[in-house]
Formats: sequence, C-alpha cells, structure tokens
Amino acid sequence: MKSLFLLSLSLLLVFNTGLAQQKKAVPPVVQKMNTFINKLMSKMTLDEKIGQLNLLTGGEATTGSVVSTGVEQKIKAGQVGGIFSLTTPARIRKAQEIAVTQTRLKIPIIFGQDVIHGYKTTFPIPLALSATWDMELIQKTARIAAIEATADGINWTFSPMVDISRDARWGRISEGSGEDTYLGSKIAAAMVRGYQGDDLTKYNTMMACVKHFALYGASEAGRDYNTTDMSLDRMYNEYLPPYKAALDAGAGSVMTSFNDINGVPATANKWLMTDLLRKQWGFKGMVVTDYTAVNELIDHGLGDLQTVSALSLNAGVDMDMVGEGFLTTLKKSVKEGKVKQQRIDDACHLILEAKYKLGLFEDPFRYCNEERAKTEILKPEHLVYARKAATESFVLLKNDRQILPLKKSGTIALIGPLANTGSNMPGTWSVNSDLANTKSLLQGMQAAAGTDVKILHSLGANLLADAQYQERATMFGRTIPRDNRPEQEIINEAVKLASQSDVVVAALGESSEMSGEASSRTDIEIPAVQKRLLQALLKTGKPVVLVLFTGRPLALNWENENVPAILNVWFGGTETANAIPDVLFGAVNPSGKLTTTFPQNVGQVPLYYAHKNTGRPLEEGKWFSKFRSNYLDVSNAPLYPFGYGLSYTTFAYSNLKLSKNSFKPGESITASIEVKNTGAFEGKEVVQLYIRDLVGSSTRPVKELKGFEKISLKPGESKTVNFKITEEDLKFYNTDLKFVAEPGDFKIYIGGNSRDVVEAGFSLSK
Ligand code: BGC
Repeated sequence: MKSLFLLSLSLLLVFNTGLAQQKKAVPPVVQKMNTFINKLMSKMTLDEKIGQLNLLTGGEATTGSVVSTGVEQKIKAGQVGGIFSLTTPARIRKAQEIAVTQTRLKIPIIFGQDVIHGYKTTFPIPLALSATWDMELIQKTARIAAIEATADGINWTFSPMVDISRDARWGRISEGSGEDTYLGSKIAAAMVRGYQGDDLTKYNTMMACVKHFALYGASEAGRDYNTTDMSLDRMYNEYLPPYKAALDAGAGSVMTSFNDINGVPATANKWLMTDLLRKQWGFKGMVVTDYTAVNELIDHGLGDLQTVSALSLNAGVDMDMVGEGFLTTLKKSVKEGKVKQQRIDDACHLILEAKYKLGLFEDPFRYCNEERAKTEILKPEHLVYARKAATESFVLLKNDRQILPLKKSGTIALIGPLANTGSNMPGTWSVNSDLANTKSLLQGMQAAAGTDVKILHSLGANLLADAQYQERATMFGRTIPRDNRPEQEIINEAVKLASQSDVVVAALGESSEMSGEASSRTDIEIPAVQKRLLQALLKTGKPVVLVLFTGRPLALNWENENVPAILNVWFGGTETANAIPDVLFGAVNPSGKLTTTFPQNVGQVPLYYAHKNTGRPLEEGKWFSKFRSNYLDVSNAPLYPFGYGLSYTTFAYSNLKLSKNSFKPGESITASIEVKNTGAFEGKEVVQLYIRDLVGSSTRPVKELKGFEKISLKPGESKTVNFKITEEDLKFYNTDLKFVAEPGDFKIYIGGNSRDVVEAGFSLSK
C-alpha cells in the first residue's frame, strides 16, 4: 500500500501539475493530489491559509538581521507553513510534532535550509565546483548533500544559486557557477537532479529552490542588493537561461531576488513572477521570497507593509520569508479588496502541493532519522568525493620551470595567514560545516609530508592590515589569528624560515568571508599587507608557490609577473587540507578551468569572454588604437581568460575537422579535434567548443560556449573529441524574443580555454 502510494507520488513529479495544464487531461496522480488538497483546503479558514504562506527562521543561525520570534506559539496557532535554519534534528522533530499534533488541521511543516555546497560534508564553494566542469561530479555532490541533510530532517534546500555574474566585485559571485550561460545552465540542471533525484518522496531527496530570481548577479557596481537594469536581449540570451534550465530539470521552487529590475523589484515584479515564470515558462511550483524581501519593498519605495505585501502576492509570490508581512496584512487586504481570496488559495495550494510531493502528509517525520544521521553524515565515502571535488576544482594559473609538483623531500616553509586556519577552508555559505574540526592546510601538509619533509610555519602577515576590516572579513567563526606586532617583525620571522627552506608555499588571498553575501569589494587584489610579505619571500631567492585562496576572480597582474607558480584553491570544503597536498605533491594533476574571467585590474570589470564586438573593435594583435574600443592604460585582454587552467602536463590540439561545411535545419554537423598529451604526466583536459554567429538580425557575442568534454590522457596518448552541432545550438532570442537560428555563416573554435583555440567555419542554409 505504502509503496503504491510512493509510486503514485513519484509519477506525480513527472507531470506538471499547474492550473493551466489541469484543463487538459489530468493524470490520475495529480487528480488524487488535488482531491486531497482541495478537501483539506475546504476545511481551512482564511487565517489558516495565510498561515501556510508564512516561512520563519528557527530563531537561530539566521542569515539576515531579523530573527523570527514566538515560533512555537505561531506554529500552534496555525501561522507557520515552513521553517528554515533550525539547527538540530531534535528541534525539527519537535516543531513538526507540534504542527501535527497541536494544530487544528495537523498540517506538517516544510523544513528548509541553505544547503549550498554540501551539508556537513562540505564541497568546494559553487564557483570552485563549477571549475571542475564535471557534471557527474557536481550532481553527485548535490546528491550527497541531500542524503546528509534529509537525515537531519531537512527537505527543502535553498539551492542551486544560478545567478550569472560577470562582476568580480560582487561577493556572491562565489555562490554561483560563474559568467557563462551555457555552462551555468548545465550545472543548474545537474544540481537539481542531484538534490531531487527521480523521486521527491524518497526519504533522502529534497526539494530544490532556484535562486535568486532574477538577475541578482548583475547588481550595479557589484554592490550587494543593488539595482539591475537590463535589456531584454541580455536577459533572455545571457542571464535567464540557467533559471529556466533548473526549472526544466524539475526544480520544485523558486526564490525571488532582492534587486530592483528595470524599476520594479523582483519580489513585486508581476512580469517576472507571473508573465515570464508561470505563463511563458509554465512553472508549476511555489515561489518564496528571499529573506524579508517583502518588507524591503518599503525601502525600495513601494509603500507601507500592507501595500507591499499585497503587491508581492499579486505579483505571484506564494511564501513570505521571515518578514511576516503576508501573515499580518493579507486578511485586511482581502477585506479591502486589494487582494483576491483566490490568489491566497492558489498560493496555499502550491505550498500544500510541495508538502504533498515531499510525502509529508503521508509521514511528517520521513526526513528525521537519527540512525541515518549517525551513519550517513560525514560518511567516509562522502569525504572521498569531497576530496576529489576539491582537487578537481583547483586551477593552476602558473607553473614556471615546473616548480610544481613539489618533491616530497627537504624543507618547506608554509607561510601566510591562510595556512593555519581550519575554519576558513569550507568557504562562505557552509552553515553546517564543523568549523572546529576542519583541518588547516598546515595540518594537511604535515600529514601528507610525514617524515619525508620538514614543514616550517609562520603567519608572515595579517590577513588585512586594518583590524576592523579583518573583523568584518572573519565573521561567523572564520577566525584567523591576528598578530599585533609591527608588520616588519612578522615578515622578518617568515623570511627567516623561508631562507632555511628549499621551497616556500605562501598561503595567501582572501578569507572565506571576504566573499559571499554582503561581502563585495572594490579592490580585488590580494590585500596589500600580504603582497608585501610575498615580495619579501620572493627576495629570498627561494622558489615560491602561491597557494591562492579566493571566492572571486582577483586581479593578479603583479603576482603573475613575479611569482613562479600559482595554484588557485578557492575554498575547497571539508577536505581542503588533504586536497591541496594531493595536488602540490602531484598525487593529483590539476585540471580545473576558470569559469570567470580574471581581469588585469578592477577597472576592466565587467570583463567576460562572450562580449559583443562593438562597432569599433580593437584590431587583432594590438592593445591600443585611437578611436577604437579600448583603454589608454591597460589592454582589453584578461589576465586569465574564461576556461583557462594549466596542468602538470601539456596538451596539443590539431586536426580540426568538420563533417561538412554547410547544413540545413534538421540536420547536424560534427566537429572533431585531436587532443594529445604532450607532457610527462597523465592528465585531464576540458576540451571546449565555442561558436560565433557572424551575421545576425541583432548583435551576437564574439564567442559562445556550446559544448565541452573533459577527457583524461596518458602521456603520449591522443583522443579524438567529437562535437555534434545542430540548429538548436545556433538559436538565440531575436528582438521579437523569438528563439531562432538564422541561416548564414558561423565560426567554430575549439581549445583548452576561450582564448587559445583553433578555428574553422561553416554555414547554416535555409
Ligand atoms: C540569501 C539567500 C538565502 C536566504 C535564507 C538570504 O539572505 O540571499 O540566498 O537562501 O537568506 O538563508
């Protein structure tokens, strides 16, 4: 009986259950669900329906400045539909017990959480994870996150965050998959598949929430929560597809963004929430606001709490996070005719549907399992994936004279403010990480080195010279020891150790809280005090390897010129301390590739590879030309282009062939390329395919990623990689917002990054 119920619920997920579709043939599982919910709703008062629209925090571990109060009383009064950030399974169980035993209708609560890059087993920050270009691995990290989180009672994650961002200043660039629409869309879908699996009712799958809808990553000047003003061309072709891809993969919910969009904040934007999301895209799940985003509409200048709550609900929002504007004003708005009861009914229906699809009406405690929590959280197998994901996310930016991999002998001086801090390894938005027990790089290096290598360590420099800035940059327990002696004294101590060693490993860059929410920067270089340390270390004449921690693209011009080896390790999660030595000592050959362009300086931002050509493009081979689109003081080129990343081996690309030079709609063309490992190490390479539409009815980017394949090659080995190109790959939204491929000439580029490519041409005929 139970399994039949589960089967029917899983079938339910296969069908879109929306009101529009219900006019067509409604599958029996959907009918059954609707009958159940309609019957329940017929017993609900208006107050109880509004109560379902209310999402509260558990009163701790919150991510905004407002914290929910009186949660228990509110549950009993039927005023709570969902709770998030309840930190222990016992507290989740207790809240659910109250809901299903002490409320009039015994409706279970949905429990959310920001399970962003893993749960207790923490994976690299999303930007790092995207640098693996490995969809299977990314999906697996989301799967593991779901297995662990659901054991603790969580059934709804506020992930994936799919905001495209091309602004290195924006702190939340660390939470997304970088600058590219195509790659971002693939990752969005993989994450949703990982979280939701093929059956949302299962005890170890959870509902995904795509965020932040929409265009949050384009906030002006990279300042968090700031305004976005964007053309439809850019929206449809560049920023919106990842949200759509997550929804097409079945994501059950959507979170609104904080930002203003062309004059109407997302949380009150009817065009966005209803016309686009529901009508054009056919989304059938529920929409939740971001943290107090309804209340913030007051500061946006849209009216008082009653007005903005009505605006938001009428725009198509179903659930109000934390702010309680819905709870406290909607009844009045119904009475005054400002909100239709039907809109509240629809929102309530969607929230109850989510609970039904999760199987909560069948068993409200399905996701609370102490036994599973004991055996499955931080399971050794999960840690193996965490270590693998971390090593695959690291990007080797420079490696002169093959300084890396390091020999496992002699003396290494491990210097820098990031060397001996475990709490900074998991990265931003890892609320479930066990910070106290996360190993530091120093511990990891000592363990990996064993008795073969002597490791010397000193701080070398504070993270930031300004103590107050350092405090802001090390919040939420991400501590870094601070040394209050004069700067030169601290540097001298490090230089002394460096002089006694064979090689220096400098662990520098950002702390984990220098990126993430409300952590934007206008200076995107390594903090000056750390640079001064680096200069002093280089002066010793010892080979220096920069192990770079960062949650965003940094401007590394000086480092690129002066430091012989740079390994960008981002923030790699629970297993960072083991993963870095894996790569430094060569047990793993780095293969990560950047998913955001690294600029030469902050003035170039936003800098991204898929830009438009302009009417006055700079001539090839030049870096300045008067009356051309460029700068007086710096070339247009990035420091490290999108898709870039070195390996301990080298790869050669040759023999680009097209199966034909022209094809018609309905046909396809195959591009093949031979890739050879020309070095001495076995290694992985991400082979990337880019296309340019040479003539269009509107302007088209100079290059767009349209395919990639990650391959592994032994020394001397070659592989032919094939890419099938169809009309679909050539489509874009034209000025009428029609998704079309226009006949004409195209260029195709293949290479190991977006800059160093081989090219050919083809045409699409009518
Ligand atoms: C963030 C969201 C997050 C929410 C709940 C907000 O401040 O913008 O990404 O999901 O808090 O924690």
